[in-house]
Amino acid sequence: MQEIHTPVLVKELRVLLNLKSGDNAVDATLDGGGHARMMLEFIKPNGKVLGIDQDKNMVEKMAGEKNITAVLGNFKDIDEIIKKRGFKKIRAILFDLGMSRWHIEGSGRGFSFGRPEEPILMQMDARSQKNAALILNTCPESELVRIFKEFGEVRAPWELAKKIILARKAKRIYSVGDLLSALGIKNKKSLAKIFQALRIAVNNELEALTEALPKAFGALDVGGRLAVISYHSLEDRIVKNFFSTRGKILTKKPQTASQEEITKNSSSRSAKLRVLEKI
Ligand SMILES: C[S@@+](CC[C@H](N)C(=O)[O-])C[C@H]1O[C@@H](n2cnc3c(N)ncnc32)[C@H](O)[C@@H]1O
Repeated sequence: MQEIHTPVLVKELRVLLNLKSGDNAVDATLDGGGHARMMLEFIKPNGKVLGIDQDKNMVEKMAGEKNITAVLGNFKDIDEIIKKRGFKKIRAILFDLGMSRWHIEGSGRGFSFGRPEEPILMQMDARSQKNAALILNTCPESELVRIFKEFGEVRAPWELAKKIILARKAKRIYSVGDLLSALGIKNKKSLAKIFQALRIAVNNELEALTEALPKAFGALDVGGRLAVISYHSLEDRIVKNFFSTRGKILTKKPQTASQEEITKNSSSRSAKLRVLEKI
């Protein structure tokens, strides 16, 4: 697997996760294990990381890494996954809700509007029956409007839905290029919102996050820390609301990437880290 993901906000997490030798930690979004390996530096030699990812490519890649147990699963089931593995004394749980570089550049699943030749699937879990082509070709107009409005906050969602309905009457929307031709939109900001909306819908991202946060908080030891990195306001709102209901908030203002990090890794630009301590 090429296109290794560069972990974001590592410097900030090193301080805020407050991990010590012998602690255990969970990386709920394992990917290439960048954050998980950083956690290991602090908890070695006896501490362990439980890593969860819904994409089997990530889990297979991490198999056999010392002191990291990679589990295929959705973080919405984090409590069951932790219980099944008998994982205890959890001092930190991290969610990094960004897009994996591999998903965009290596998966061939149509996550990017810059790759018109790819099939428009957008599943992070390739086993999932739901995909973007299915949504685009079968959802009623009202559902398309809802997706673009709620998950993309686009200005005229009904116009997009109309264009899609018209295009799919003539020809099935199969690839990223088919969608781009149907929409006739070139503006990158608008396209980013449209692609974000479809991705959120395909992967049930907001439901999974809403379900996972209380379960993760429940699994932490007292004094343990829950850290979430979000990348857009829809996610951040869920995290902020949840954090306001319990524990001690350690990030009054969310932490963001330094200019130096943004220059080196542009995907850190919109990252916002919030950390909550269980008291
Ligand atoms: C931005 S990457 C995480 C980066 C990683 N922590 C690192 O060290 O750089 C996000 C990963 O989370 C996974 N993911 C997204 N939603 C998930 C969910 N609901 N359950 C499990 N894994 C998920 C994706 O498959 C992807 O590999």
